[in-house]
Amino acid sequence: MPLVYTSANPEQDTEAVVRVLVHAFAGTAEGVREWLAKSGWENLRVVRDGEGATPIATLLRIPMAHYYGGKPVKTVGIAAVGVAPEARGRGVAKFLMSEGLREIARDRCALSSLYPATTTLYRRVGYEQAGTNFEHQYPVDSIAVKGDNLAIRASTAADLPAIKACYEAFARNRDGALDRGEYIWNRKMTPRDGPCSGFVVEEDAPIPDACDGRRITGYVFLRQDRNPVSGRHAVLVSDIAAVTTRAARRLLAFIGEFGSMAENMTFLCGQIHPLFPLLDEPRGLTVKFKEYWMLRVTDVAAAVAERGYHPGLSAEVHIDVADEVLPQNSGRWVLRVKGGVGSAERGGRGDLCCDTRGLAAAFGGLLTATNLRMLGLLGGSDDAVAALQAIFPGNPVGHCDFF
Ligand SMILES: CC(C)(COP(=O)(O)OP(=O)(O)OC[C@H]1O[C@@H](n2cnc3c(N)ncnc32)[C@H](O)[C@@H]1OP(=O)(O)O)[C@@H](O)C(=O)NCCC(=O)NCCS
Repeated sequence: MPLVYTSANPEQDTEAVVRVLVHAFAGTAEGVREWLAKSGWENLRVVRDGEGATPIATLLRIPMAHYYGGKPVKTVGIAAVGVAPEARGRGVAKFLMSEGLREIARDRCALSSLYPATTTLYRRVGYEQAGTNFEHQYPVDSIAVKGDNLAIRASTAADLPAIKACYEAFARNRDGALDRGEYIWNRKMTPRDGPCSGFVVEEDAPIPDACDGRRITGYVFLRQDRNPVSGRHAVLVSDIAAVTTRAARRLLAFIGEFGSMAENMTFLCGQIHPLFPLLDEPRGLTVKFKEYWMLRVTDVAAAVAERGYHPGLSAEVHIDVADEVLPQNSGRWVLRVKGGVGSAERGGRGDLCCDTRGLAAAFGGLLTATNLRMLGLLGGSDDAVAALQAIFPGNPVGHCDFF
């Protein structure tokens, strides 16, 4: 029977879908049902072994965007990829992902992104590593940041629009950061391990989006996890952002005030979080690699048009793309950038060549175009590579040197 990719029907498919996901992630049926209810069945896709058959694989679509160059570029995040244990090893996941990508491209959505449990599967359909996720841990009683007298208060549901506005101002200029949808906001406030408490800092701000002349300039969502042996606890920060120095310092000092009973503060982010350099002494910081996240360009023209560019940059890049899964992206493109706006049009000389992995990696900027050529993900002359690097600036961080 040919495999079929379709929407899921909660009336008939619940049992099979729950079974696939329980085996995929070793969770409980109850936990999976809750997850699906929060995620929305309309975002679930399944593979059936023939028309009308029971689902043997699942995929969850999470519509949102990534900021690049200060502008949101639409993406469909992918989660809940699972294949029933008895159906594995015969190309079902590859079929599921390929069809999922075709659907995303049909909707003219620029990108798709995900956290991979196995990189191989997603590389096969054109994703490449575009960012990182690390666990940062810092002893709470070592947070010596001095906050001033800025008031901090518990957040309420009514604060959510202002919290989101604060996040957007904080995240917009960090390439790859999410322009979050409801799915991600829910996970920030109610992570799987338990709900978080929110706290906000407000400052006078005579600006249009301020509420009564005050504006939320920083917030934190955190959860305390008690160690039954020591009686002390960890402070698990699920989200923290600030748009002024005062708010940033106040939030860190606030976490430090848990220090009489709290041991470590734990937070997941990239190599660095913009607030952490405010910690006076990074000596106690431990950082553990968790995962790469991966990106896939699903619509070349939309991806280039939606992202932002430096307004002073004027550049032209001729590139030849190979895309097996989405052949409409294959072939020659001229990428033009002027006055902060980009476009991709058909044609050109094909000075550079890459497949979708190289394109995703260049677009994402985890490595520079020069690094990508060294890795064999991109081909072309020095000048052509430099031009690509100018329009999709890489984000090199960290040193291999010590001095
Ligand atoms: C990972 C999983 C989805 C793969 O499903 P599958 O139907 O067996 O995968 P496919 O047969 O379509 O494999 C496609 C490619 O991925 C590779 N692949 C699949 N599982 C892999 C694994 N665990 N490790 C490395 N490569 C893997 C295959 O070798 C194949 O590559 P090839 O084209 O070179 O042969 C399935 O094992 C599963 O449900 N696992 C548990 C849940 C999970 O890990 N989900 C992913 C969350 S991101």
